[in-house]
Amino acid sequence: MSVADLPKVELHLHLEGAAPPGFIRGLAAEKDMDISHIFDPDGGYAYRDFRHFLEVYEAATATLQSPEDYHRLTLAVLEQSAANGVVYCETFLSPDFCGNREVSAWKDYLQAIREAAEIAEARDGIVLRGIVTCIRHFGPEKAKQTARCAAETAGDWLVGFGMAGDESRGKPGDFCYAFDVAREAGLGITVHAGEWGGAASVRDAMVALRPSRIGHGVQAIEEPAVVARLADEQVVLEVCPGSNVFLGVFPSWQDHPIQRLRDAGVPVTVSTDDPPFFHTALAAEYDRLAETFGWEAKDFRDINLTAARAAFCDEATRARVIETLEAAYA
Ligand code: HPA
Ligand code: ZN
Repeated sequence: MSVADLPKVELHLHLEGAAPPGFIRGLAAEKDMDISHIFDPDGGYAYRDFRHFLEVYEAATATLQSPEDYHRLTLAVLEQSAANGVVYCETFLSPDFCGNREVSAWKDYLQAIREAAEIAEARDGIVLRGIVTCIRHFGPEKAKQTARCAAETAGDWLVGFGMAGDESRGKPGDFCYAFDVAREAGLGITVHAGEWGGAASVRDAMVALRPSRIGHGVQAIEEPAVVARLADEQVVLEVCPGSNVFLGVFPSWQDHPIQRLRDAGVPVTVSTDDPPFFHTALAAEYDRLAETFGWEAKDFRDINLTAARAAFCDEATRARVIETLEAAYA
């Protein structure tokens, strides 16, 4: 079986960040928007560093202006994911971009995204669930409104709440209220931390927000005590190695700590984050992991089962995903 055909679970994917650049260019043309400054001569996304990446991300997202646009985006993204062997995916959704955090507008966007997910599931068998994410550099007040949107729509499909954005801005503790609202609504909790903010950022996020999963978390490797705590508490890391290497969090794949974290007993999973921005795709990540760390079918089985167990979906969906994995990796 080729790597692309192996069934995969992806827990960390930003919906807008997965938009093919050609798709965004097409939307911009339809709307007569000039966003040529965000593309390189080959038509890919162009940016200098992480801060600039966030700006380009938001400029690309500005072309997405209606539930219909998000419907088309979801179909385009899931087609790519299914081609990479993804059988179950959780995607980050931002009411900041979908209806400006207004609950009734957000519900329209969510409905359009869900309808697209149903079409993709019937077409390719891929299952999608949503995680509302607040954006750290937009601040705690907006995060509260975002959490309200999440709580209003929590259920079998909208299953989690998280936080992305610029980790250098504000402290996790500033966002306790938003996370409490989400937790009380029954949503699973994940937080971006330790991508840029060092091991201390992972510890702070764990203490203040009590997530069962952490987005990235890889800089925990700087402090053995934080690694030990992740392992003790079995907090699952959503690791995106290609994203980290492309953005320069680590200088090379060889230097990436994913294997060292695994060896220390931390539950790790593998995702792509914003694949076209980082010139990657999930099957390509698996190829690099096999090349760099000698990972074999048993390792991929292991990370996918970890991901299925850490997914925020209902138990019947989880059981189906685990069955698919067990059958393929037997
Ligand atoms: N990190 C933080 N925020 C983000 C990212 C990321 O990789 N992608 C989209 N928003
Ligand atoms: Zn991310």
